Amino acid sequence: MYVNGGSHIQTFLDEWLIAKTREAEQRVGSYTEARPARFLKLKPAGYPLKDFSRNYPVNVSDEKLFEIYAKEQWMGATIKNGDFLFDQRLIPDFAFRVIKVLPAGDVMITENTRISLEKNDGEGKLDYGVKFSDVIGHVKIKDKCKIIMQYLQEPEKFGYWAPRNVLFYGPPGTGKTMTAKALASETSANLFMIRATELIGEYVGDGSKRIHELYSAALNSSPSIIFIDELDAVGLDRSYQSVRGDVSEIVNALLTELEGINDNVGIVTIAATNNPVMLDRALRSRFEEELSFELPGEKERLEILKFYSAKLPLKLKANLKKYSQKTKGFSGRDLKDKLLKVSLHRAILDESKTVTKKHLDYALKQLENNQKVNEMLYT
Ligand SMILES: Nc1ncnc2c1ncn2[C@@H]1O[C@H](COP(=O)(O)OP(=O)(O)OP(=O)(O)O)[C@@H](O)[C@H]1O
Ligand SMILES: [Mg+2]
Repeated sequence: MYVNGGSHIQTFLDEWLIAKTREAEQRVGSYTEARPARFLKLKPAGYPLKDFSRNYPVNVSDEKLFEIYAKEQWMGATIKNGDFLFDQRLIPDFAFRVIKVLPAGDVMITENTRISLEKNDGEGKLDYGVKFSDVIGHVKIKDKCKIIMQYLQEPEKFGYWAPRNVLFYGPPGTGKTMTAKALASETSANLFMIRATELIGEYVGDGSKRIHELYSAALNSSPSIIFIDELDAVGLDRSYQSVRGDVSEIVNALLTELEGINDNVGIVTIAATNNPVMLDRALRSRFEEELSFELPGEKERLEILKFYSAKLPLKLKANLKKYSQKTKGFSGRDLKDKLLKVSLHRAILDESKTVTKKHLDYALKQLENNQKVNEMLYT
């Protein structure tokens, strides 16, 4: 790049760059014992000479593409925290400072290194539109979430005693996913949500690679919450793993990450399952706390019905207390989708301006009928 038309400066820089590259190559040779870098974070640092210190807008719109670009230039280089890497292509001599390497110490950039550029503040934050106050009941669980929030805000305060891995378990529709979303919305943490089945790849190694990438990405934008939904789909007990050979690799990769061997500071993993008994025992033991999502009691059912009926597009005119008594065993999702939604649809079909007892009774009747059919089929 020619700035100020100074071609002699450019020649000098060319030579300097060649020398620098040679030096880097030599370092690679002498540091063959350097561990492969797992993760690398760079920060744009500007040009080496004062004359060149104008700001160059380093604007990366595609992180994946930047990673490929960066790797192509610096593969094989040995670096440590605080080092500089110089761009040799699009913006020659522009320096990037290494601000984070994992593992710590001298590491070598390899094919598998995850490279990222420091993000601007406030980027990529998602609002899931759910707050803790929307989660009805589950008081103990919300308390634990408050601790996690504090940790994500001030990780250094907790040190070794950081909350790391928490297991949410309970019947379907009791608010596990919703709580994780509320947690992410109420902190400045980024939420990485993944269904455990998405971790299963086509080839051997795909699963562990995905987990590695997931944790690298979370670390890159820490503080982060990793929410692994439906953990039982992959975290099976050893006896089932022999049936599903592809999952044992995932279990092992997860064990490593949950163990925190890789310094996952500022990351909290929450996994959810309907079925903790099916989980691999080693995996299950990595969760410091298991939080049970119980089905709502009568009082909570009433609160849930009130909360969601207020959001219906038609006014609901009925004694909800009666319905909270009639719906023992219903989850929050059942109340919302199977009772209120079906009632609303019935009211719309009736061209009614309100949802009334008649519509609610219709929905309940439907559910009873379904239950009877299920009992006949499965018992
Ligand atoms: N305690 C609750 N308070 C308020 N709403 C709830 C509650 N439990 C469930 N819901 C409602 O039910 C919906 C489904 O809940 P959610 O997806 O969180 O269940 P889950 O426990 O993750 O279920 P699954 O095990 O099937 O994944 C929520 O989006 C919410 O609207
Ligand atoms: Mg869920």
